[in-house]
Amino acid sequence: MKITEILVAEHRIFLSVFDQIERALSGVTTLTEARKLARLVEGMLESHAGTETELAYLALDHVLQDKDQLDRLHEEHHEIDTSLHLVHLAGDVARARLMLQTALGASRRHFAFEEQSVFPLIESALQSETLAGLAATWMQRFEAQPAG
Ligand SMILES: [Fe+2]
Ligand SMILES: [Fe+2]
Repeated sequence: MKITEILVAEHRIFLSVFDQIERALSGVTTLTEARKLARLVEGMLESHAGTETELAYLALDHVLQDKDQLDRLHEEHHEIDTSLHLVHLAGDVARARLMLQTALGASRRHFAFEEQSVFPLIESALQSETLAGLAATWMQRFEAQPAG
């Protein structure tokens, strides 16, 4: 297995959670509830984005062109983080819901961009043994996490 395949599998899980959050969002009437949902998304994306950042830096040394794709990856992570942060700063629930929806929409587009442009670039830049080694490390870290 390659690390990029693990990241794609995580995207699938996140997309289904996002759908559920969007359904729940229409019934959210307080800032506290909106912020809780934002924290859930932040927690899910944090280590995923961290793994991608590490990968992008590793690939950077081997990519002769299309470096702008790797820059775009970092920019989009930053934009998503900013939208989520704005949920916490929102003064009313309508604004908080809008910012959370913005973050979910930006994340969906970002996943598609990564799968179409960034992951193929990373797979061509790095050796398959490296991609498999990173997947094994990811698995070890995952298994070392306390349950629940
Ligand atoms: Fe990402
Ligand atoms: Fe991703």
